[in-house]
Amino acid sequence: MSLPPQSTLQFTPDLRICRLLNGMWQVSGAHGRIDPAAAVRNMFDYLEAGFTTWDLADHYGPAEDFIGEFRRQLTAARGVEALSSLQAFTKWVPRPGRMTRRIVEDNITRSLRRMEVETLDLLQFHWWEYDDPAYLDALTFLAQLRDEGKIRHLALTNFDTRHLKTIDEHGIRIVSNQVQYSLIDRRPEVHMVPFCQEHGVHLLTYGTVCGGLLSEHYLGQPEPGYRVLNTASLQKYKQMIDAWGGWGLFQELLGVLKQVADKHQVSIANVAVRSILDRPAVAGVIVGVRLGVADHHAENARVFDFTLDDEDRAHIQAVLDKSQDLYRAIGDCGDEYRG
Ligand SMILES: NC(=O)c1ccc[n+]([C@@H]2O[C@H](COP(=O)([O-])OP(=O)(O)OC[C@H]3O[C@@H](n4cnc5c(N)ncnc54)[C@H](OP(=O)(O)O)[C@@H]3O)[C@@H](O)[C@H]2O)c1
Repeated sequence: MSLPPQSTLQFTPDLRICRLLNGMWQVSGAHGRIDPAAAVRNMFDYLEAGFTTWDLADHYGPAEDFIGEFRRQLTAARGVEALSSLQAFTKWVPRPGRMTRRIVEDNITRSLRRMEVETLDLLQFHWWEYDDPAYLDALTFLAQLRDEGKIRHLALTNFDTRHLKTIDEHGIRIVSNQVQYSLIDRRPEVHMVPFCQEHGVHLLTYGTVCGGLLSEHYLGQPEPGYRVLNTASLQKYKQMIDAWGGWGLFQELLGVLKQVADKHQVSIANVAVRSILDRPAVAGVIVGVRLGVADHHAENARVFDFTLDDEDRAHIQAVLDKSQDLYRAIGDCGDEYRG
């Protein structure tokens, strides 16, 4: 199997990515036990199928080490040239506090070492406390490290539009912001998408399949209790569904998505992902991968085999129109992380 040309996107002049990124929060331990050897073996399956782009973070358990080990094994099997076929986007999620060049550089050096790279393809920066303006210091030092060649491109995760604008006004070049964006959580559409379109910032999205809740598996099922939802991801997005409109409305959405999926001979998850991939400013959708445990890549590849038409979009929109406004309930992108 190989993915069609429309599966890739020129993300930056020097980086071409797969528009379905492999998300590695799922190896952190919060989603069940992961066997490292099986996980790295499974990474070869993704690469071979054309899923070349990985999303990870310094705090996703062994994720950065898995990239390092994968690169070692890939070099041994296929030579050093094979490394140019993969892209690994990590994050730095520091504890709030004073930011010095030393603190920033030490953390970037740790990621470089763990991933066994000389340059980080993309460093996505998270900040917990907008009241603490030290995020601008951190980003200034990160921009210096980028200019010195330790980071190829600087990005953000979970920043709201107001602070993305502040960063832009400080002249710090940002290529992307990673945010929650799905048929359930459409908060980015209020301010973030227009800003990104205007300023040439890409969005990378997560939560787009709601941990697997947006799939046939939950269609026609009674509301699951939290003990049944056995990954951190399922629990996180079940809460979003509760705030969005509850299990009854969610079943209505699954029903409509199933009709659309049947029409195109694809799956509910395919329709959920396609719906977001088609939105303006969205460069890629990150789908979490429980490496060595569960593998949906063959099914997810089908997202590149069909297009949604106006009738499909209208049917889906009719259900979405009945939901709560999560922007009013929660706020802008990332506000759920900031009390
Ligand atoms: N920046 C942030 O704050 C942030 C937050 C969350 C996530 N992320 C990133 O986004 C990635 C995705 O994480 P997420 O929590 O948002 O999870 P997600 O992508 O919404 O859900 C991933 C889960 O969906 C299920 N799934 C995938 N394809 C499927 C299909 N075709 N049919 C049925 N089920 C399917 C799988 O469940 P099973 O494994 O159970 O089969 C998989 O583990 C993370 O790994 C991380 O890289 C970033």
